Amino acid sequence: MGRQTSETPRATGLESLAFALLYSLPEFARGIVVPRPSMTRLLARLDTQAAAQRFCLRLRVRYGGRSLYVRGPRGKVLLLLSQGDVERVLAGSDSVFSLRTEEKWHGFSPFQPDSLLLSQGEQRGDRRRFNEAVLGGAAHVLARRIDQVMTEELDGILGRRQAPVDWERLRGGYDRATLRLVLGDAARDDVQVLSTLNALRHQGNWLGLGPRRRGRARRLRLAMTAGIERHLEAPAGDSLAGLAAAAPQSARTCPAGQVPHWLLALTGLGSTVIGPTLALLAGHPEHCERARAEACATGGERRHLRACLHESLRLWPLVATLPRVVTEPTGWHGATLPAGTDLMIPVAVHNRNPQIGYADAFTPQAWLDGRAAADWWIIPFSAGPGRCPGSDLGGTVGTAVLAALLRQYDFFPDGPALGPDRPLPKTLDPFSLRLNVVPRIL
Ligand code: HEM
Repeated sequence: MGRQTSETPRATGLESLAFALLYSLPEFARGIVVPRPSMTRLLARLDTQAAAQRFCLRLRVRYGGRSLYVRGPRGKVLLLLSQGDVERVLAGSDSVFSLRTEEKWHGFSPFQPDSLLLSQGEQRGDRRRFNEAVLGGAAHVLARRIDQVMTEELDGILGRRQAPVDWERLRGGYDRATLRLVLGDAARDDVQVLSTLNALRHQGNWLGLGPRRRGRARRLRLAMTAGIERHLEAPAGDSLAGLAAAAPQSARTCPAGQVPHWLLALTGLGSTVIGPTLALLAGHPEHCERARAEACATGGERRHLRACLHESLRLWPLVATLPRVVTEPTGWHGATLPAGTDLMIPVAVHNRNPQIGYADAFTPQAWLDGRAAADWWIIPFSAGPGRCPGSDLGGTVGTAVLAALLRQYDFFPDGPALGPDRPLPKTLDPFSLRLNVVPRIL
């Protein structure tokens, strides 16, 4: 290590070990590419995020609020603990602070080697334009269609009697809706596309450290891609596939290579975000009533419901860590970061920074009055050139699901509520949330 980088603080060996045990290892065990339900349950019981949060606060105090190097299993990583550094990296050029880290490549290349997420240079520019055109357009052009499909697929999905919420059933209906919205109605029961994608995601979860089963991965990827291409060849106009056919593209774009990420993002929303948002609404009746009023109104933007969804994403982010890698020597507080320096933004820690006055309280208003959007600690969709191009679409789909459910059902906590009378837990297991459901029209 040269003189120039020595000015950036380094964690001691013990601190690096503690960070690995409290943050990196739990993240890895929970599943970076697809959540492992049993591990998610265990980590929620141990409330590992609370321990990680306390530890990062201690580091911030000890190192004067500066970002610092920590050692991990793959070498040294610059942990971004300063708000200014987070802003600088995310808002900076993606050709300097690249999204395509080695770890991301290992995790995501088994099923989306040609995706925007893993692209660089001109190819990245091309695919970014394509993704923005399809996903940005879809949030508006398909809004009514999204509502219609969700209403159809979720009609009576939780039964006609009072009962505990059957999450598996709900996810089944939601996944069918996702296939219709992404690939068209003909894909509704094409479970093979999702099952091969999921098998490949599980392989990616090892981040290249587990058993290498290249032959199996290749076979699964071929089967998944063939399924996707079949639907893209005859695209239904009222789906992402239809919008993709009309979007600007070149020989570099690889539309079929973008679809796995769209499916991953949308199924992730259904399996890990909708449940916590419903539980928050069940624990905050006044917000639930406002959200239901929007759900029952015809037309309208559902701003409050969307704010509830965003707030749920702040509290328990879908993407808990943003990695970046520096591609060229880059000035850094009077020192230089060499090319190849790995950076890590612990989103789940920052989103609950105690400097946010409402850190552990459900506060949808912060998304309505602009506080959340203006705060660089709050980055559930990332920011700058890597900002999620599907955030609007995710909001439209998420609010359509919540609206379809709130029109039909009342939800009640079965056990301690996620309510306003105590700080919300830092770690949550979306797979074993206990809610009771009562149909509104018997
Ligand atoms: C509503 C829930 C969603 C959340 C919280 C979310 C979050 C994120 C985040 C944090 C990133 C940046 C990753 C990084 O910087 O390393 C990202 C990227 C991305 N997301 Fe989303 N996302 C959501 C929904 C969606 C949906 C519905 C789609 C598409 C159907 C989508 C497509 C993408 C794509 C293509 C990228 C890659 C962007 C790039 O590399 O430039 N996302 N998302």
